[in-house]
Amino acid sequence: MKPWGGRFREAAHPAAERFTASLSFDRRLWAHDLRASEAWAGALERAGLLSPAELAEILNGLAEVRREFEDGSFPFRPELEDLHMNVERRLQEKIGAVGGKLHTGRSRNDQIAVDERLYLKDAVTRILAGLTAVQSALIDRAADTLDAPMPGYTHLQRAQPILLAHHLLAYVFMLERDRERFDACRVRADVLPLGAGALAGTAFPIDREALARDLGFRAVTQNSLDAVSDRDYLIEFLAAGAIAGMHGSRLAADLTLWATAEFGFVEFHDEFATGSSMMPQKKNPDVAELIRGKSGRLYGNLVALLTTMKGLPLSYNADMQEDKEPFFDSVDTLEAIAGVLPPLIRSLSFDTRRMREAAGADFSTATDLADYLVRKGLPFRQAHEVVGRIVRSAIDAGKRLDDLALDDLRRFSALFEKDALDAVSVEASLRARAVIGGTAPGSVKDALALARRLLGA
Ligand code: ARG
Repeated sequence: MKPWGGRFREAAHPAAERFTASLSFDRRLWAHDLRASEAWAGALERAGLLSPAELAEILNGLAEVRREFEDGSFPFRPELEDLHMNVERRLQEKIGAVGGKLHTGRSRNDQIAVDERLYLKDAVTRILAGLTAVQSALIDRAADTLDAPMPGYTHLQRAQPILLAHHLLAYVFMLERDRERFDACRVRADVLPLGAGALAGTAFPIDREALARDLGFRAVTQNSLDAVSDRDYLIEFLAAGAIAGMHGSRLAADLTLWATAEFGFVEFHDEFATGSSMMPQKKNPDVAELIRGKSGRLYGNLVALLTTMKGLPLSYNADMQEDKEPFFDSVDTLEAIAGVLPPLIRSLSFDTRRMREAAGADFSTATDLADYLVRKGLPFRQAHEVVGRIVRSAIDAGKRLDDLALDDLRRFSALFEKDALDAVSVEASLRARAVIGGTAPGSVKDALALARRLLGA
């Protein structure tokens, strides 16, 4: 019999029962559900609704239930629909009728909201640690490749030389924003909905602020309808997860590209590569590809919950039970990505010689030649035009920029002097970009130190 059986003449149709059950996925909230129930029992006792002896009985009963979850002996009964009713029924089996007092003044609507917020706070803590581990791997690789140049790209065309460390640190700063987003989401989620009851607020004199302190929330919700209807905290989490997934995907895309024979900038360690069932020679970057691929489900989970919530009238609606699978899937996906990326990054072998050669090819320092003319007083637009013509004639002559002699340059502008030839070296190009956030070795060293400080904080 269901906890609400009194009002019904007929039992649920088995298909309806199967269809509404959430136990298969909400069971993972058990630890948070028990924690919230223990605190609720304490609040009931303080409100005079449980005697101290009854409170003790309920806490003992909940402790027994907890042990069953821990040792795997908890008897899950999907016909009891969800985790909350499974726990409550089990408690009553353990301690009898007094177990039926636990749900006083409480609804599964405020119960699920508190469970999810508690779960989210723990999940964010783990994900922040995971993101930090990825950042730290990137920082270490940046530190040990600190003076290795590579071509920087725009439009996937060689553009200007950069340092490999600069490229790696770009991801560290992206992930720093991800950490900020997750952290902000955790702060906003850190508000207690319990005491909202089904929708209108509990009718018993519960000290919600004391309850919030018990459960480690920084505040209590100020509107009971909002408290049971709100899933913003999950949506923000999923949004932060989608963005972090996009960053992981771009990193994976860079690495898979660099690992092609055409680039040849990096080789994945055997431990993070796979073979082909047919082609004996293949070494495939499946791990990186799946990091890229899993961004799809992170986006999908966000869109799924946004769509579920859109147009729902206040307050709680059963639709909202659909919030859990996308949420848990994003938690799992993010943890999986954050688990595999650090060792993958640490095991990459960069071909810095090949990167260095590529860095100076394809006229990648043409901007520096134009900048040289600017320093001699030529307006940049004219300098751009002059160097454009130099590049075109070098292409026609089958030459590189650093093959040109001073005389070749002077045919295009009398402003060129001997030091013009130095300006087009990869090192000079790098050195010139000494602004904060630029790719000059000194700037990158500063950025590296800053990145380390961010992780320390
Ligand atoms: N299993 C439900 C959920 O996940 C808990 C709240 C249910 N309330 C209800 N009246 N069906 O959303």
